[in-house]
Formats: sequence, structure tokens, C-alpha cells
Amino acid sequence: MTTVRDIRERADSDAQPITMLTAYDATTAAVVEEAGIDVILVGDSVGDTALGYDSTLPVTYDEIASRSAAVARATDEALVVADLPFLSVGVDESESVRNCGRLLKEAGADAVKIESGEHTVELTERLVQLGIPVMAHVGLTPQRVKELGYEKQGTGAEDADRIHDLAKRHAEAGAFSVVLEHVPASLAARITAALDIPTIGIGAGPDCDGQVLVVDDVLGLSERSPPFARRFGSLREEMSDAVEAYRDAVASGEFPPSEDS
Ligand code: KIV
Repeated sequence: MTTVRDIRERADSDAQPITMLTAYDATTAAVVEEAGIDVILVGDSVGDTALGYDSTLPVTYDEIASRSAAVARATDEALVVADLPFLSVGVDESESVRNCGRLLKEAGADAVKIESGEHTVELTERLVQLGIPVMAHVGLTPQRVKELGYEKQGTGAEDADRIHDLAKRHAEAGAFSVVLEHVPASLAARITAALDIPTIGIGAGPDCDGQVLVVDDVLGLSERSPPFARRFGSLREEMSDAVEAYRDAVASGEFPPSEDS
């Protein structure tokens, strides 16, 4: 069983890079865990993937809770991190704490991830005091799509310093790791060197302590992927071939054969 402490220790530059992938259902989570991935993120990217929304904004707390429970039921070894969807934290402190805690208590997650901002520094401190491990997330934070779009963040000196400072304050507040999304590799390297917790990059270059991608992109299931994602398979084509083969076999009468009846 991977613990938050195991992940925290991988901030050392000599340690093996942390591998993290999203999963949103039991079958995929089992495959991801069998492959030896360290951390499974039940990301709110479930919104643009399995749930068919056009951003992560409509994703609800109950959707994340139900998906997290499915992933937790299917896994023993990987650290399961549940992502807090838009407006499930930040509106009111006690509601934020309760939402995070329920993902551990009821859904079986091991930790929570929160898209970070000024408003999540104190919240992180409070959650950690209560025994709720927090993964921070800076740089491109897709829940701010209306404000930022999906552009690379931290390209100017002032914005880079702001992101660096935000990551540092969350580390000081007790976060056990921080996701750096779509920032220049030089900024990710600077943050990684400055923090004593691991950085996990997505579109943030090779110098982070670990990497994360959306599983649909890795499998080749997504119709569209961000520029920094890489396909390691072609599941969309394989699924399509299998479904067409089934359709043809039924249409031609080849399936089911009479001996199966
Ligand atoms: O929701 C998600 O999948 C994420 C990762 C891209 C880090 O937040």
C-alpha cells in the first residue's frame, strides 16, 4: 500500500520519478494499478472525458465521490487521490472541510487534490491538521477556464513568481505534493528545487519529481488531447474495430453460433 509519506519522500532528486495517472472507474483503475502506477487521480477531468461535458466546471461532488469509491474498491496498492470539483471547496470553510473529509471517510480515497489559490492556503493547513492529506495544484488550473482559458501559465516574470510563491505557501501549509500544470519547464525546475515536497508535472517539462497524464490521452481514447499529452496506445481504434466486428458478426448471422445456444 502506497502512503502519502512514501510519495513525500520522493522529493529527493535521486528518487524514482513518481508515476500518476487518472482513472474514473474500477476496470481502468485495476489496470493502472496492475501496471505499478504509484498514484491514481480521480480527476475532475472525468468531466471532459467519461461524462461528456465541455469543461470540468459542471462536475459535481457526487460524481467525484461515486467515481472515487469505484476506484478505491478496485485498488489496494496505489494511492487514490480524489479531486475536489468546482465550488465544492472555497465557498464556506466548514462545507469545504466536510466535503474533503467525506471523500476519505465515505468514498475511501487516501488524499484530496485541490486546485490552489490564495483561498486554499489556510484550508490546506486546516485539512492537514485534521488528517486529510492534500495535493496542491498550481499553474494552469482548469476550473479557472473562464478567467485563464487553457493557456500556458507563468510565462512572464511576475506570474512565474506568483505561481512559485503559491506552491511554496501550500508546501508550508502542509501539502504533501503539488501538481504543476502547463508552465514553462524552467519554472517547474525552479519550483522543484525550492520545495521539499515532490512536484508532479503535466506539461511542465522533465525536471519535476513525477509526471501525471489523463488516462484517456495515454490510452489513445480521447478525440482531442492537449499539446503536452502523449498517446501510448490506440484504444479508440481498437474499440471501434471490436464494435464493428461484433455488428458485422450479428448482421451476417455468424454470431451467435448455434452451439452457444
Ligand atoms: O483532473 C485532472 O485530471 C487533473 C490532472 C490533469 C492533474 O487535475
